[in-house]
Amino acid sequence: MRPYVYLVSAMTVDGRIASKTGYSRLSCPHDLRRLHEMRARVDAVIIGANTAIIDNPRLTVRHAPGRNPARVLIDGALRVPTALRLFDSSAPTIVFTTRRAPEERVRELRGRGVEVVIAGDELVDPRHVLRELYARGMRSVMVEGGGRTNWEFLSRCLVDEIVVTVTPYVLGRGVSLVEGDGYPTVGDAPFSLELLSVVLCECGGEAVLTYRVRCREGA
Ligand SMILES: NC(=O)c1ccc[n+]([C@@H]2O[C@H](COP(=O)([O-])OP(=O)(O)OC[C@H]3O[C@@H](n4cnc5c(N)ncnc54)[C@H](OP(=O)(O)O)[C@@H]3O)[C@@H](O)[C@H]2O)c1
Repeated sequence: MRPYVYLVSAMTVDGRIASKTGYSRLSCPHDLRRLHEMRARVDAVIIGANTAIIDNPRLTVRHAPGRNPARVLIDGALRVPTALRLFDSSAPTIVFTTRRAPEERVRELRGRGVEVVIAGDELVDPRHVLRELYARGMRSVMVEGGGRTNWEFLSRCLVDEIVVTVTPYVLGRGVSLVEGDGYPTVGDAPFSLELLSVVLCECGGEAVLTYRVRCREGA
């Protein structure tokens, strides 16, 4: 059993969620409010190590009313600095790492009240992450990037809905919505996508696309 998984992101018209320098401020105020409303509805928000380091997000609910979800970080080598906002006291944080993590970093984080789970030898198994969250009573989670983390969940067919805001920008080279090996043709993906809704942002210029992810048999 696993929680229901939303993959949520804002991307440019050319499918970038960040520029080649790590710039990722793409959402208009309306989209930001929608993102925070979603955070308030789920039990946890999951991000990868690069997003934690580059963006230093709080992952709390500030632009809408509601409670903060748990914050979940996937960091195979436990290389994120402990001074990140993610480790403040505004919401519980769980870190999934591997045996590659230096023991003193594990101890340091645990000493600060952060739960650290060793979930693999080299790679964190996303299925393990979802199973652990489900076991803690969490029934819906959001994967909030970046590209590599999105790929880790989507390529294993562990996403139920993709909610992507297309923003009126083009960045060229940068970080894609998913950063992985990719597929030679659209038929090679282990899933198909069914468009559920298109909502235009009040700001103009932006459209929120929601897709249901349908896993192919055997995926
Ligand atoms: N526009 C948006 O909505 C949005 C949202 C979020 C992020 N972003 C942007 O996305 C960019 C970062 O994306 P990214 O693709 O570079 O990185 P990312 O997905 O944030 O983090 C990737 C790193 O996380 C660790 N990781 C992820 N999955 C793992 C697994 N299964 N097992 C072990 N480790 C795992 C790895 O660290 P190790 O290599 O150390 O093992 C990996 O290098 C940032 O610039 C950020 O601003 C944009």
